Amino acid sequence: VAPPRREATFEAAPNIALIKYWGMRDVARGLPYNSSFSVTLDRLRTRTTVRWDPTLPSDRFVLNRAPVAGPAADAVSRFLDLVRAMAKVTDPAQVVSTNNFPEASGLASSASGFAALAGAATASAGLRLSGRDLSRLARLGSGSASRSIFGGFVEWRAGRRPDGRDCYAVPALRASHWPELVDLVLLVGGAPKKEVRSALAMQTTVTTSPAYRARLAAVPKRLARLRSALRRRDPRAFFPLVIEECDEFRHVCETTDPPLDYLTSTSRETLAAIRAFNDARAEPRAAYTHDAGAHVHVFTLRRHERALREKLEAVRGIERILRLRPGPGARRLARAGQA
Ligand code: DP6
Repeated sequence: VAPPRREATFEAAPNIALIKYWGMRDVARGLPYNSSFSVTLDRLRTRTTVRWDPTLPSDRFVLNRAPVAGPAADAVSRFLDLVRAMAKVTDPAQVVSTNNFPEASGLASSASGFAALAGAATASAGLRLSGRDLSRLARLGSGSASRSIFGGFVEWRAGRRPDGRDCYAVPALRASHWPELVDLVLLVGGAPKKEVRSALAMQTTVTTSPAYRARLAAVPKRLARLRSALRRRDPRAFFPLVIEECDEFRHVCETTDPPLDYLTSTSRETLAAIRAFNDARAEPRAAYTHDAGAHVHVFTLRRHERALREKLEAVRGIERILRLRPGPGARRLARAGQA
């Protein structure tokens, strides 16, 4: 009998948070203060192959065809340690990943990266985890990765337990729920590379921003209203809530000491252009949001897309626009091919 192949390939996509995760009540366990809500995106993906190999001297991590050393490789190894403990294996692993989009630019490669790694590492080690367990595991690599396990619209429940058992993501609405809704991702030229991991930056907000407490008090109601607006496919409620949340996220970042500023002048002009686009009519037609990066996601409906793109033509410094839709969750690829 041939030995089992001990290799698996997974794909996972980034997600964009509509209600942000920003601040942990327990850093070691990756437990957030508030529940968050996101859309898993189509077209963008990380593809990761994990192969356990007793002949390797130590773990090997290859990203976009280049061997990686340093903090990123250490984070992968620490994550593999969790899987080794779960599967009771001691072998090193080779992890080969490719992204079809730029890293550390605000397109959340840590979310797709750890979601794909959680799937590939556990499957190749012979573990069969539920979506919920995969989400809990992915969370320990990167908080936002807990949501990329699922497709469509996803809620990550903060939970209450100190041990984190009740802290995981759940699918909220299918990717096909609102066919009119599109996400135009505006890739901003000269977007600076992220210097500090969000996981670290957010904790300085917790300890220094005078606005953080008020944010935590406001999030649960906003999340409930957003969920309901989405369920009803109500743009009048949905777009303003997305903007309100993004503005509050930016406010707690800007009031952090030292301030966290992720935007460029082009990003800021884009936000202003969307506000003007909405003010021009009685009814809101779009919403912007951004994460800890300079690129801006603009949600709109298909019927407003042409007018919106015309408006955005006036903003200088937008290098490319990706047109994305809600997409599928993490999935295993049938044949472990080249990542
Ligand atoms: C602003 O969990 O992605 O995107 O693991 O350090 O990359 P790192 O942190 P991560 O932080 C996400 C912060 C956010 C908001 C969100 O996605 O909810």
